[in-house]
Amino acid sequence: MLKAKKGGPVVNPKSLTVTLAPAIHYRQSTTNWSSQPLQPIVWEVLLEAARRAPSSWNHQPARYVVVDHQQTKKRLMSVIHRGNAWAGKAPGWVVQFACPADDDIIDGKPYYLYDCGLAMMSLIYQAQVLGLVARQMIGWDEQGVKEVLALPKHARVVVITALGYPPSTSFARRMTHFRRRMTQQHKRFAVAYLAAREHWGNPLCQVD
Ligand SMILES: Cc1cc2nc3c(=O)[nH]c(=O)nc-3n(C[C@H](O)[C@H](O)[C@H](O)COP(=O)(O)O)c2cc1C
Repeated sequence: MLKAKKGGPVVNPKSLTVTLAPAIHYRQSTTNWSSQPLQPIVWEVLLEAARRAPSSWNHQPARYVVVDHQQTKKRLMSVIHRGNAWAGKAPGWVVQFACPADDDIIDGKPYYLYDCGLAMMSLIYQAQVLGLVARQMIGWDEQGVKEVLALPKHARVVVITALGYPPSTSFARRMTHFRRRMTQQHKRFAVAYLAAREHWGNPLCQVD
């Protein structure tokens, strides 16, 4: 795994909390939601946020199917891996897909995946601003998802994101935090491990 040379802490993570955008600071992937559905206007705003994301040469490869009808969810659940059974509790899902030929491939690197990631991140931060919580998943049978949603032949399913409002009971909220801690989901590599200054291996010094 690539890592920068070990250095001391670059910035005090606590001091970052005042400058980080709240949507970034408070975002967490959750597996618990209230049953409150997402209103059509909310879906529109979320997809508008995704639509405004930048993409390589403005190719805009990402496409979406919103799923919030019980019957479609039930059919999709049958092609989702068992480890992601939590997804069934979410009031809505957005399935992101793309045709790789719609975007650049540079030195063998297919940029549709990068561009789709940018768009989904925009959608998720917008969701956070609207008081929603989300969890992305890649554990499903791609052919099955394509068949259930009648996606085009050349489409690749990139990610499925479950969305909803946070659970209203304090027990459910506590369970979310407990599960998060158990799976160490909150843990991140230190910036000094991820980044260098001027050349790889040169520690990133204190930000002045
Ligand atoms: C591309 C991608 C795929 C993911 N797939 C799954 C998945 O299949 N099942 C799951 O429970 N979580 C999945 N996650 C959630 C990650 O496990 C989670 O984002 C990570 O543990 C960090 O936690 P945080 O988002 O709360 O900071 C996925 C996240 C991303 C970005």
